[in-house]
Amino acid sequence: AELEACIKAELKARDAVLVAHYYTDPDIQRLAEETGGCVADSLEMARFGNQHPASTVVVAGVRFMGETAKILNPEKKVLMPTLEATCSLDVGCPADEFSAFCDQHPDRTVVVYANTSAAVKARADWVVTSSCAQAIVEHLDSRGEKILWAPDKHLGRYVQKTTGADMLLWDGSCIVHEEFKYRGLEDLKALYPDAAVLVHPESPDAVVEMADVVGSTSQLIHAVQTLPNDTFIVATDNGIFYKMQQLAPNKTLIEAPTAGNGATCRSCAHCPWMAMNGLENLLEVLRTGSQEVHVDPALRARALKPLQRMLDFTA
Ligand code: MLT
Repeated sequence: AELEACIKAELKARDAVLVAHYYTDPDIQRLAEETGGCVADSLEMARFGNQHPASTVVVAGVRFMGETAKILNPEKKVLMPTLEATCSLDVGCPADEFSAFCDQHPDRTVVVYANTSAAVKARADWVVTSSCAQAIVEHLDSRGEKILWAPDKHLGRYVQKTTGADMLLWDGSCIVHEEFKYRGLEDLKALYPDAAVLVHPESPDAVVEMADVVGSTSQLIHAVQTLPNDTFIVATDNGIFYKMQQLAPNKTLIEAPTAGNGATCRSCAHCPWMAMNGLENLLEVLRTGSQEVHVDPALRARALKPLQRMLDFTA
């Protein structure tokens, strides 16, 4: 509690606002809520940081989220509890290889997931998040555009299936969602036949096919609040349980299995980089101003265009 009081005082003293992702640990999410910041998915985090008047934005999440905040707010100071917090999708899509891939397919519109570096965004025509990917691809498809998609192949395949768009997919995946297993989910569903199965589309095909609802974090949270079921089996990072339980306190939430035998493994469904955001390092960066996000200005100008397109499209 003392640590939290210190962080609150530092946030105020530094005119800083805390923006946290649904996948961060509950104590970070709680603090963001208590201090007038926000807890959200990557799209809403970007929008919130952009609209908030604070001169410093502290992004508790992973690296690309801090970069996005900086690209949208070059005049603000953007800090993160640690710049070491990366993302397997970002790491799995190096800018030089990706750029070469794009060069081989000049006839395709380049659509990248927000989970990418500033350099990859700079090579793209559009940025999307899981909450708006389908709508944006539908829009491009209706204009007859062929798409080059990166980096998450599972989400790409799902969007391809639901929209029928012509999509060439980069071979990337999220290490957390990749672990959800069809067989284990089938066993769990047999134990809880009345439960609704909620699945994030970064999960493998067979798992997505078992879902009652497929959606982004914000869409899955909405499903828990609105579906009549009492029990939910949830296949996404377990950081989301904080917000789900808060908004739907009477519902029973069960983590989808990450092992093929129906056993659940708590630590498996949690992103190790999201977990690097803690109260100690948060206080430390507020005090020292270290772990500041910088984006090269020329790169920033190019990365801003596809990001702004997404924000305008979803406004
Ligand atoms: C994000 O956009 O924040 C992540 O893809 C998780 C999600 O919201 O679905």
